[in-house]
Amino acid sequence: MGILKRVWHWFDRRGGFSETIGPLARHKVPPETAEGKTGWFYVTGLGTLAAFIVQVVTGAALTTKYIPSTAHAYDSIIFITDEVTLGRLLRGMHYFGASAMVVLVCLHLIRVFLTGSYKFPRELSWLSGVALLLLTLTMAWTGQLLRWDQNGVWTVVVGAKFAARFPLIGEPFANFVLGGETVGGATLSRFFSFHVFMFPALIIAFVGFHLYLVVRNGISELPKAGQPVDPETYTAWYHEMVERRGRPHWPDAAWREIVVGAGVVAAIALLALVFGPRELSGPPDPSVLRANPQPDWYFRWYYALLAYKPRGLETFTMVYLPALAFLILVALPFVASRGERSLRHRPWAPVIVIATATVFLGLTVAGLRAPWVPAFETQPLAPETLGLRTDLAVEGARVYYAEGCQYCHAIAGQGGQYGPDLTDVRKRLPPAEMTIRIHNGFGQMPAYRDILTPEEVIAIVAFLDELSAGDVGAGNGGGGVERRGTRR
Ligand code: HEC
Repeated sequence: MGILKRVWHWFDRRGGFSETIGPLARHKVPPETAEGKTGWFYVTGLGTLAAFIVQVVTGAALTTKYIPSTAHAYDSIIFITDEVTLGRLLRGMHYFGASAMVVLVCLHLIRVFLTGSYKFPRELSWLSGVALLLLTLTMAWTGQLLRWDQNGVWTVVVGAKFAARFPLIGEPFANFVLGGETVGGATLSRFFSFHVFMFPALIIAFVGFHLYLVVRNGISELPKAGQPVDPETYTAWYHEMVERRGRPHWPDAAWREIVVGAGVVAAIALLALVFGPRELSGPPDPSVLRANPQPDWYFRWYYALLAYKPRGLETFTMVYLPALAFLILVALPFVASRGERSLRHRPWAPVIVIATATVFLGLTVAGLRAPWVPAFETQPLAPETLGLRTDLAVEGARVYYAEGCQYCHAIAGQGGQYGPDLTDVRKRLPPAEMTIRIHNGFGQMPAYRDILTPEEVIAIVAFLDELSAGDVGAGNGGGGVERRGTRR
């Protein structure tokens, strides 16, 4: 002990830490934030910070073995997972740490919204928080590409295609993000640099600013009905109240944060140990277009939204809806910077939270169970297997798979369940009717009139029409390509 004390004194005499950090740690907080029940509302921010620290530590460790080149990225992740000491645990923690950070940052946003803490003088805390939310999602998104597997690569391609729909700046922006028109080596280097240097640096800067503001303005007191925020008087009132009744942050409130921080780290480690990192979905093959990749779970709601949206609202859903959500978040502290914080006077606040959370959870569940999801593993069936006789039908089969029809439709047991099985479609629909449905679309079936040439539609219809003639439906076990040659 004596030695430790002497070492501390050596540093303290030179750094003056007890004069700066001491008062900072003991700065007074409103009594309720340090009290039994309500104090637990004020731990979401620290929980998020703990998850971020896990990401920095595990991420830094992963970079020591990860190789950001198209030739080696995928293999280096396999190597990390299977060979490197603790590699599997580290990858798992980085994966669940990302999930934890996304969940906690949302919980934090909900807490701040419900307690009306975005009002004067804490508008900048809210705005820097919105920036941190976006940065967190950007990190989650860029991280997926670094796995350099099918899902990771195609998730990014699809995302860039959405962004490209944005008027004027969309196209150049998408090209900048991808480092060209397509995903390749330039994209990987770029995403590595974004994910490992640029965005973490921005997050650290914004977290610093966010924490500075928390100390500068003090943590918000628990809202009370009949105590509206008035920018003229609030600051003086708050400081007087905290001086009089406040409690020292350390240790009265800080112990809860330490418990939560440790709990978050332990939960991430436990999940990583039990479930391990996300499985890779095979090295990317640029020749196989995946119109519907499987992104990490916290992005699935968005894919479900795209699947269920009314037709004709593509650009609205992909571009204007996210932009609108962002604008609402940014506008909130400007339009509601004063007035009542208590939920008694803001009954719509919990309604908004519950409604939004229900929609998000519902879409996430739909996105995870999405009947169209398993179809991405679908292999095109070989023309021989399908019993095609004419070249036109073989050409039709090629177009059919190239356009990704199989993501939604099964043939001979292979393909998605989103649309009807097309093995015996001929028995239901005459060729002219098929042509019309493919051309114009109907219900959830997209229209292909702008995507396919008339010749391609004719070829596909010839393909679907010969399909049943070749009797592929008989005794198929979904064998796909391996069944090549087993035809009668
Ligand atoms: C996003 C998923 C999706 C994709 C991709 C898709 N379809 Fe469909 N398709 C559907 C759905 C859903 C239906 C049923 C619509 C309804 O009944 O309202 C359907 C119906 C059809 C039908 C009528 C089948 C019947 O039994 O009524 C044909 C034929 C068809 N699709 C062909 C195609 C072709 C060819 C392609 C590729 C060019 C394709 N579809 C791509 C979802 C899709």
